[in-house]
Amino acid sequence: MSSKRVLVVDDEHLIRWSLVRALDEAGYQVEAAETGAEARTKYRDFRPHAVLLDICLPDAVGTDLLKEFKADDKDLVVIMITAHSDADSAVSALKIGATDYVGKPFDLEDVLHSIEQALEKQRLQDENAYFRRVLKDKIERDNLVGNCPKMIEVYKLIKIAADADAKTVLITGASGTGKELVARGVHMHSSRSKEPFIDVNCAAIPESLLENELFGHERGAYTDASQKQKGIFEMAGGGTVFLDEIGDMPIGMQAKVLKVIENRSYRRLGGDNDVLSDARIVAATNQDLTSMVKEGKFRADLFYRLNVMPIKLPSLVERKMDIPQLAAYFINRFNEEYGRNIDGVDAQTMHHLMSYDWPGNVRELRNAIERAMMLERGSSLTSQHFSSEIINAGKSAEGSSADEATAEDDCFSFGQVKLPKDGISLEEVEKQLIQMALKRWNGNQTKAAECLRMSRDTLRYRMKKFGLPK
Ligand SMILES: Nc1ncnc2c1ncn2[C@@H]1O[C@H](COP(=O)(O)OP(=O)(O)OP(=O)(O)O)[C@@H](O)[C@H]1O
Ligand SMILES: [Mg+2]
Repeated sequence: MSSKRVLVVDDEHLIRWSLVRALDEAGYQVEAAETGAEARTKYRDFRPHAVLLDICLPDAVGTDLLKEFKADDKDLVVIMITAHSDADSAVSALKIGATDYVGKPFDLEDVLHSIEQALEKQRLQDENAYFRRVLKDKIERDNLVGNCPKMIEVYKLIKIAADADAKTVLITGASGTGKELVARGVHMHSSRSKEPFIDVNCAAIPESLLENELFGHERGAYTDASQKQKGIFEMAGGGTVFLDEIGDMPIGMQAKVLKVIENRSYRRLGGDNDVLSDARIVAATNQDLTSMVKEGKFRADLFYRLNVMPIKLPSLVERKMDIPQLAAYFINRFNEEYGRNIDGVDAQTMHHLMSYDWPGNVRELRNAIERAMMLERGSSLTSQHFSSEIINAGKSAEGSSADEATAEDDCFSFGQVKLPKDGISLEEVEKQLIQMALKRWNGNQTKAAECLRMSRDTLRYRMKKFGLPK
């Protein structure tokens, strides 16, 4: 457990001694300094979270030290110790960034209370900054939807990765297939879920800034570095660092990330000390890393490290059977978000939605539903609310040749299903499959619905629609 570090700076032996003892008993890690010079050295080596600082030191003025320390670390908690007669310096110390002050002679309880409060406030500020990042889009944090065999396989892998506490996980799949949701899923299901999940989009940040984001810097590491800054690997603690779009990470940075994985430690820019990192790295990409490795664009060693626990997401075209469920899910979600009351998509339109290939995957489907709901004033979504590209794809698929329909689509081809030469309406196929399932389960609707991966209500609705007897 990492308890907070407090540095006590006072030239009076008795005061130092009593503060060190009280802080130690309260569970802090404590160091003490007698002079300004000693305080500077200890500050550098001990890296305290809080400093108790006497205003009057033999070789220095406490407020000068205060300025120096705060310039290095603006979040540092500094509590000044002042003589009672010296209220003016106390006030000026507060103006230049001291958190609080206590007058001599002081009550130890008051000092402890003041430190505890200041550190708690600091923790909450860190936490707020963290939550702002994490909750940047609350809605994005929801569940993965879909029951096709490929998604079931994905759910299993998420659980295995989370339980095994695999140090690295690589998520691949085309754009919009849900890689970020999977990354969050791995985090949420693991024992790390109470620690931060921090995402970094490697494609969106220029190389020079990326290094700074990931590793942080010491004060003075470069011209603008007027203060120490923690990097993402440090902020994540024992949580998860999500390196999104890792295929776009510059090759130089790849070497540095590999080192963090291998050594579990790294240095801040301009730093001399190793900083430990216990964070798990989850990386995602929509690029083909294997061929990037062959072309020398991605480091083979990093690829093998990341690929210890791969999770591959299917494109939506490979799991069209999930489209009705996904559509219903998004309609529900946007009903809530926009206070609407749309009850669904009509059968003909659903047929079109299932015939379109969705190159933008679930994201495209989500956007199409959202747009349709903006256009619809009534209660259900129909073809006129979707773009002609989507609707026409459905029409051409109806009249298409057999080879188009036998796409590499093992969720949907089932092996035995044959497409008749003259085509067939999907509704007819649906009807027959429902009849077959009911027959197989002797009319047991729960079993039949389960076997067709639909809810019992949906099955009933369809039976009624197709005029099938109960
Ligand atoms: N299985 C799913 N269930 C529910 N929503 C999903 C699913 N997959 C994706 N989404 C939704 O689709 C959108 C895109 O998902 P996400 O951002 O995770 O994709 P991505 O694979 O990271 O894409 P990119 O490579 O473009 O970053 C999000 O709004 C997400 O909530
Ligand atoms: Mg993404």
